[in-house]
Formats: sequence, structure tokens, C-alpha cells
Amino acid sequence: MNPLLRSGANGFAVANRRQFLTRTALAAAFFTVPGAFAEALVHTPRQTEGPFYPDKLPLDTDNDLVAINDGTTPAVGDITWLSGRILTASGEPIRNATVEIWQVDHHGVYIHSGSSGKAKADGNFQGFGRFVTGSTGEYLFRTIKPVPYPGRTPHIHYAIKMKGRDKFTTQCYIEGEPQNDRDGVIRGIRDEKARKSVIVPFNPLPGSKTGELAARFDVVLGFTPEA
Ligand SMILES: [Fe+2]
Repeated sequence: MNPLLRSGANGFAVANRRQFLTRTALAAAFFTVPGAFAEALVHTPRQTEGPFYPDKLPLDTDNDLVAINDGTTPAVGDITWLSGRILTASGEPIRNATVEIWQVDHHGVYIHSGSSGKAKADGNFQGFGRFVTGSTGEYLFRTIKPVPYPGRTPHIHYAIKMKGRDKFTTQCYIEGEPQNDRDGVIRGIRDEKARKSVIVPFNPLPGSKTGELAARFDVVLGFTPEA
């Protein structure tokens, strides 16, 4: 057994954890924009949870969707470091928020038992992940760039869970995807600023030699009853 792949306390490889820490520091340094809070933050619009939240959670629910437990074969797809912050309307970070994401694999298949195309599902893609925010409100996932499936432009589903609050669900999208303009869920967001706030660039990760991508998606919660 490769000693670098020994499992850590949480079940994911020690080598991966070290890489995660490095990436977190990098992301924080690279993306921090001084004075960003001076501007009024756009509330992230609530969007449908959809029918494919996992009906049975995977054995591994960590923040690395590209590898299941100690599996050595990665998921197929464009590896993407997906990060952001969970914020209040005034820009304060929210700690102890559970951020959950779920999305289709490279073939457009959800891990939900009712997803179409199960026969061609990528068994190495976790399909769902969780991250609990710390004091900075920051979250991080390693996943793949989502692909379209019939009827939908590429998207990643989010659920934010906090003690004493209703679950908040939304979706995030890729800037420049041709199907965005025709997507019924995106079009359902009537306010233009709100609509733009959920569409983010997936850019090459600086310094990556393997063509990895990076995307930032902040979730701004209103904490007032939704209209
Ligand atoms: Fe979906």
C-alpha cells in the first residue's frame, strides 16, 4: 500500500488532506477582495431543491467528490475546486453552516435511484458532499465541472442547513454556458442582479499543471422571510 494514501481520522487520504489545506490557503489569498463588503450584497435567490437530492446518501459524504473513500481511480470530468463563503446580508461570515452540494456525474447521472441513465453512472463520482463552515464562513469542495442533462443547463445544487433555520436551497451555474438563457430555473429568477449572482466563472486554477478549474460562489442569506 502506498503510505501516502493511508487513511486519516475522517477516512480520507492524508495526502489529500494536506492538499486541501494548501488549496484553502491559496484560495483565501487569491480571492480576498478588500472592501468588498462596502457594497450592498445581493441576496442569493432561493431556487428549487429539485427531485434528485440523494434518496440514499453515499458511504462517503466528505468535501472531495472526485474520490470515494480511499478509492484511487478519480471521477471522470474537469476537476474543479469549488469554494465560497456563507454570509449574512451584511457580509458577516456564518459559521457552523452545513453546506451540501449534489450534481450529476460526467454522463449526466445523479446518484439518486430515480435518475435516468443509471447504467452508465460513474461509480467513482461521489455525487454529493458536505462541508461545515468555520469562523470565516468559507467552504471548499473538490468536484467536477457540471455537464448539461436533458432539460437543464449545467448546475450544482446547494442546500445550506443551520440550527434553527429552514433549509435554504439554491443552484449555481457556469458563466458562458449557451443553455443558461433557455434554462427554466434560471429564467424563474426575475431580478437580474439576483440571476447574475448565481452564475459564476469556472476559470483555470492558477498554477495547476493538470488543467484543474476554480470557481467561487458566495451564498448570501437574507434572514428575512422570503417573498
Ligand atoms: Fe438538477
